[in-house]
Amino acid sequence: MIYEAKEELEQGIRPELKAYPDLSPYDTVFLGFPNWWNTLPMPVVSCLERCDWHGKWVLPFVTSGGGGFGDGIQALQKLCNGAVLSENGSAFLGHQVETSREAIMTWAKAAL
Ligand SMILES: Cc1cc2nc3c(=O)[nH]c(=O)nc-3n(C[C@H](O)[C@H](O)[C@H](O)COP(=O)(O)O)c2cc1C
Repeated sequence: MIYEAKEELEQGIRPELKAYPDLSPYDTVFLGFPNWWNTLPMPVVSCLERCDWHGKWVLPFVTSGGGGFGDGIQALQKLCNGAVLSENGSAFLGHQVETSREAIMTWAKAAL
C-alpha cells in the first residue's frame, strides 16, 4: 500500500474518487490529510483539484508519523488556487489522534 502511494506520487497519478465535495455553501474549510511521503496523498490531490477555492478561508491540519506537513503546505498553496491559507495550521501525530481530541478542538477554535 505504501509503495502504491509512492508510485502514484512519482507518476503524478490522480486516482478517481467516488465523489467530490461541493464547497460552494462554505466560506471556511478545515482541510485535513495524512502526510504521505512528505506531502499530500494523491487521492487528496485529485479531490482538491476538482474544487473551486476562490474566496475560501482554508485551515489546514495534518496527521503524520512525525514529519508534520512536510512539503504539504507548498502543495496546498498551488492546489487551493484563489483561497487564503491560514498560517496557523496544525500537525498531529497519527498514533496519538485517538487521544488528541482536546488538543484538536483547542486548535480548531483558536485557528478560526
Ligand atoms: C503511504 C504512506 C506514507 C507515509 N509517509 C509519511 C512521511 O513521509 N512522513 C511522516 O511523518 N509520516 C508518514 N506516514 C505516516 C502517516 O502520516 C500516518 O500513518 C498517518 O498520518 C496516520 O493516519 P492513518 O491512521 O490514516 O494512517 C506515511 C503513511 C503512509 C501510509
